[in-house]
Amino acid sequence: MTLRLDGKVAVITGGSSGIGEATAQMFVEQGAQVILGDIQEDLGESVAERLGEGATFALCDVTQEDQVAELIGEAIAINGRLDVMMNNAGIVGARGPIDEIELDQFQKTFDVLVSGTFLGIKHAAKKMKQQEGGSIINLASTAGVNGGFGPHAYAAAKHAIVGLTKNSAAELCRYGVRVNCIAPSGVVTPLAAQAHLGDFQALDKIRDTLAQNSPLKGRAGTAEDVANAALFLASDESGYTNGHCLTVDAGFTTGSKATEPAHTTSVPFMREAGKTGLTDT
Ligand SMILES: NC(=O)c1ccc[n+]([C@@H]2O[C@H](COP(=O)([O-])OP(=O)(O)OC[C@H]3O[C@@H](n4cnc5c(N)ncnc54)[C@H](O)[C@@H]3O)[C@@H](O)[C@H]2O)c1
Repeated sequence: MTLRLDGKVAVITGGSSGIGEATAQMFVEQGAQVILGDIQEDLGESVAERLGEGATFALCDVTQEDQVAELIGEAIAINGRLDVMMNNAGIVGARGPIDEIELDQFQKTFDVLVSGTFLGIKHAAKKMKQQEGGSIINLASTAGVNGGFGPHAYAAAKHAIVGLTKNSAAELCRYGVRVNCIAPSGVVTPLAAQAHLGDFQALDKIRDTLAQNSPLKGRAGTAEDVANAALFLASDESGYTNGHCLTVDAGFTTGSKATEPAHTTSVPFMREAGKTGLTDT
């Protein structure tokens, strides 16, 4: 059986937990060599140890340019290439009503989410342009696609990530480098537990909460659901996919709901039920 990432070298920021950890596992299982970068050192070291020879951990704060450059340098040192850069590190960031958010907290949110993603794209692009190929994957969110899905700073930062994805894709395509992003709705990770319940560790509770609210009834989104999307974007199977924002959200952003809408006459599939052909008027 051919492995989908056989021989590829990938960097994943925020790889110590949640989506980054699940993606690292999937990438390693599919033949990639993965470097995890994160500020959570002990956790990252234990993830790398669990994943075996295919994974190594490096301490990296994505807001620090020298550390991002060094992380990517470590990956390139493996066999002279960088095939996949996943800019995944994230925080919930500043919360609260718009008229109460402190400027420094708003800016800190942007530092991690937007500047961190920018730095990852920048230093990956240097190598990928030169080698004429590579896949950059950024973590956006449904909060970066529609309004009302997250705190203000987070939503603004995730919209910025979608924009940065499209713009850098438009530039890097001529070098054979693809840039895409993934926009998940809430998935079961410490970040989602913190965002929705105020407790990083409440994973069982967040699973129940997400399952109850999911458009796909009873089905919570998982880190593995997002990892599967990342695997597609990292692999050659997505070779003609560029500048795309791939929602992994059970249809939330298209208005899908598990419960029957109250205004059935205004919802096309309900209004048209049992009718065929053209309408008379
Ligand atoms: N879980 C969700 O519901 C959800 C939904 C949409 C988007 N996302 C996005 O997915 C990405 C991963 O989130 P997750 O849910 O796996 O969260 P998580 O908290 O499990 O993992 C995030 C990781 O990022 C690391 N990190 C934070 N700041 C960092 C920094 N400055 N430098 C390096 N690493 C840093 C954390 O230490 C952590 O290990 C984030 O960008 C998040 O915004 C998550």
